[in-house]
Amino acid sequence: MHKLSVFNATRYASSIRAELRASHAGETGAVWIYRGILLVNRFKRDTEIETFAKHHLATEKDHLLQFENLIHRFRGSALLFIWMFAGFMMGVFSMLLGRNWVYYTIYKVESFVDAHYRQQIHALSKLEFCDKIEIIQMMQACNADEQAHRDEALHALNGEPNLAMRVWGKLVGTGSHCAVVVAKLL
Ligand SMILES: [Fe+2]
Ligand SMILES: [Fe+2]
Repeated sequence: MHKLSVFNATRYASSIRAELRASHAGETGAVWIYRGILLVNRFKRDTEIETFAKHHLATEKDHLLQFENLIHRFRGSALLFIWMFAGFMMGVFSMLLGRNWVYYTIYKVESFVDAHYRQQIHALSKLEFCDKIEIIQMMQACNADEQAHRDEALHALNGEPNLAMRVWGKLVGTGSHCAVVVAKLL
């Protein structure tokens, strides 16, 4: 990542801008999920969740920063406030319902993100653009963290998800998919 020049003012072609905008929106949402979890946890004081969420928040902030350093090359989503709010509410809602809901939500979100990053890396590898190798390596490194987050959440999950959790999980998956479609455009 350090090889990427922040000062390179190259503006990417629209297909590349769309991919980076969607990832930037996703990393923004991710930061706000953990902010939502940690806000509710101020009252719940679950130390296991606190460690989990603080560690993940630090990683997501780092991911977000990497995309922000390149934002002049793609322009951020005009609906960023919606992705922040959606992420925040997802975190608040899951933490209000309990630790297991948090783990399951993160498992579902990160499963989506993993598939999305892999699909993006595949699509971008077929295109030619400035700093292509560095951008792809950056996404691969981010995705390795997302996979670790997903596995960590799955291991922390206590028992099988109940029906309500599974319905919620479907909503999270569909919502994430819709957010990517919209963030690519706007
Ligand atoms: Fe991330
Ligand atoms: Fe993540």
